[in-house]
Amino acid sequence: MIEIRNLHAEIDGKKIINGLSLIVKDGEVAAIMGPNGSGKSTLSYVISGRVGYEVTGGEILLNGESILEMNAAERASKGVFLAFQYPLEIPGVTTMTFLKACLNAQRKSRGEAELTTPDFIKRVKTGADKLGVPQEMLRRALNVGFSGGEKKRMEVLQMSLLEPTFAILDETDSGLDIDALRIVSEGVNALRDPKRSFLVITHYQRLLDYIVPDTVHVMSKGQIVKTGGKDLALELEANGYRDYVGEAA
Ligand SMILES: Nc1ncnc2c1ncn2[C@@H]1O[C@H](COP(=O)(O)OP(=O)(O)OP(=O)(O)O)[C@@H](O)[C@H]1O
Ligand SMILES: [Mg+2]
Repeated sequence: MIEIRNLHAEIDGKKIINGLSLIVKDGEVAAIMGPNGSGKSTLSYVISGRVGYEVTGGEILLNGESILEMNAAERASKGVFLAFQYPLEIPGVTTMTFLKACLNAQRKSRGEAELTTPDFIKRVKTGADKLGVPQEMLRRALNVGFSGGEKKRMEVLQMSLLEPTFAILDETDSGLDIDALRIVSEGVNALRDPKRSFLVITHYQRLLDYIVPDTVHVMSKGQIVKTGGKDLALELEANGYRDYVGEAA
């Protein structure tokens, strides 16, 4: 379970998260929707521990333990995973090498043995096939020259290999073609588990037809201003944010 209490955070002296509280229980899929610039990606960076974001108040607890003092790698080893809105390109590092390094670092931190190369390759190939990621992409530098949708599929492949306990998907649907949206959603749904929780950031209700959320939260001006069930996303699709965006302090 992740519990965020009265979180305040800023970057470059600009306050972006303004007293945000949110609970995502084990096994729950929570969706966050909200206008551009409301702080959704910033929240995902603050949770994942990206450098440069300063938490000025509040708490983030993962299974009751504060993660604020941990760096990004430590949080990842605790099971926090972020699929980026804009996946990073890493020239010079092949996708295969990157995936192997991530996976083995994760296993090491959990006290598990490193995978042998054949075991690793088998896992990646199985995961890649399921998500429609061609083998040829695995030999290219990570995300370099990948199309928008290919990058998003690669994020979900990473997630499926790392088996996180708390996964944040930041607009993973943007840029996906109609078939990819279904394939990627199936990939996410296959990972749904009573011990795993998801925070799905999206602008479009359509994604939530595929990944049906347990809760939907509206974010505005760095706060959660409304929480509801999956029907809230339908209401937002119909009416926009006008009923909620005025309410934040
Ligand atoms: N380094 C920075 N310096 C100043 N302002 C920043 C910085 N990074 C982000 N911001 C501002 O913080 C606000 C929140 O940005 P964020 O990317 O979290 O929004 P978002 O809700 O994810 O929007 P979108 O729906 O467009 O992805 C924006 O107004 C943005 O301009
Ligand atoms: Mg964003």
